[in-house]
Amino acid sequence: MSKTIIISNRLPVQLEIHNKEIKSTPSIGGLATGMKSVHSGSNDLWIGWSGLTAENIPTELEKDIDAALKEHGCSKVNLTESEVDGFYFGFSNRTIWPLFHYFLEYAEFELTNWEIYKAVNQKFADEIISKADDDDIIWVHDYQLMLVPQMVKNKKPDISIGFFLHIPFPSYEIFRTLPWREEILLGLLGSDLIGFHTYDYERHFLSSVRRLLRLEVSFNEIHIDNRIVKVDSFPMGIDYKKFSEAGKANSLNTIENQSDFQQRLNAHKESTKNAKLILSIDRLDYSKGIAKRLKAFEYFLNKHPKYKEKVRLIILAVPSRSNVPQYQLLKKEIDELVGRINGEFSTVNWTPIWYFYRSMPFENLIDLYTSCDIAWLTPIRDGMNLVAKEYIATRTDKSGVLILSEMAGSANEMNESLLINPNNFEQTSEALCKAINMPLEEQQERNDILQKRLERYNVEKWANDFINSLKNQKEAGNIYVSR
Ligand code: ADP
Ligand code: G6P
Repeated sequence: MSKTIIISNRLPVQLEIHNKEIKSTPSIGGLATGMKSVHSGSNDLWIGWSGLTAENIPTELEKDIDAALKEHGCSKVNLTESEVDGFYFGFSNRTIWPLFHYFLEYAEFELTNWEIYKAVNQKFADEIISKADDDDIIWVHDYQLMLVPQMVKNKKPDISIGFFLHIPFPSYEIFRTLPWREEILLGLLGSDLIGFHTYDYERHFLSSVRRLLRLEVSFNEIHIDNRIVKVDSFPMGIDYKKFSEAGKANSLNTIENQSDFQQRLNAHKESTKNAKLILSIDRLDYSKGIAKRLKAFEYFLNKHPKYKEKVRLIILAVPSRSNVPQYQLLKKEIDELVGRINGEFSTVNWTPIWYFYRSMPFENLIDLYTSCDIAWLTPIRDGMNLVAKEYIATRTDKSGVLILSEMAGSANEMNESLLINPNNFEQTSEALCKAINMPLEEQQERNDILQKRLERYNVEKWANDFINSLKNQKEAGNIYVSR
């Protein structure tokens, strides 16, 4: 029986070793949470990095680590410290991530990191080649592994390979600045199917292929080496049932069953006479626009002082990629902004911002989604943004307002939210006023439409659509006869 092999840098769990004990925690990020919901474990294999470096794995624990990962249907690729530095913190997160999110000024073009990126991609490819049979389906994920499809195709030309990019693909004018642009495109073109979250990213990719490789592109098919590579958009959904059921269960909880965190949120609501809670949840990443959001909040409080003591902003930022200098600088900037705004506006009864810099367990995430009247998500660029979808799915009484940046991939499917340009403080501030004053019926009308759409286009459908399209591509026989 053929199996599906998922390959991504991040596995759904991260391992740590404390006093010779293996500890596993769920990985944060859209790729991990999304794919976790469709990874069956029984007939699938998920290959990735465990989060540990080879130097930190005691030989006597190697077997236990493999067993711990096997429980999750996973298998590891071991990376050394210098590989993690050059491949993960280096080329993936100091070159590709900023470039693909249009932060050109942050992108570093280091030859050494590129060489390590190639070597590590080969390591992942070798692992696949050693584990895959010819009738298996190989599904490679994200920007850390863009050379893998070609590396596998070279050794196993008959195997089906799909690739999905979870981040934006930038416009040709941005992409062309990358010194290794042709190699990246050719790496991706080892796939039979390449998927993006939105049609715009797909269009940008096709345009780069056309202009940089001068390959024949007809509609969404690329002709290369007597093969046809199909390119399509597949907007990723969420595990709708999981979030809506968690939202429902949360609202039915008796006080005794509520988490401590939930009780504190409730107590806050009572003590502040139902001041509106505004929520933002992101990894601490410059692409998420957290610093701009704080400045927009300051602008809003200055412009509309009547809302002082009537609103509170909860910022939950998950530590991310903290070895990369831009992330360290951003952390400092956010700490200072929160301090400044709280210092400027706090009263004895009120602190405008609650700031949490940590990861939270799933149930606390749900506590926040269900307790906050407004979700305010303002990425400067975001491949998709699943938090926006998760917030709406948990609102089982259909109350709540989503303010969402039009620069997030999810904005394409969430027109009923209040869409804003995160650089426009005036518009953002007006959206906050509108959200605070939106009548309940209007909230319910908007959320009803959004929920129906999210339920239909859930993560399972997303994965099935991608895999079926890949299978069709194979069945149709992707042999191209040159005209
Ligand atoms: P990205 O993939 O760029 O991090 P997304 O919004 O697409 O952004 O996905 C983030 C995922 O991480 C969501 O599924 C969300 O539930 C999860 N998540 C975000 N913040 C936290 C947190 N503090 N604790 C636990 N999970 C979180
Ligand atoms: C985004 C990327 C993922 C990545 C996640 C978390 O969602 O698309 O590939 O796994 O962020 O980032 P990290 O660097 O911790 O894996």
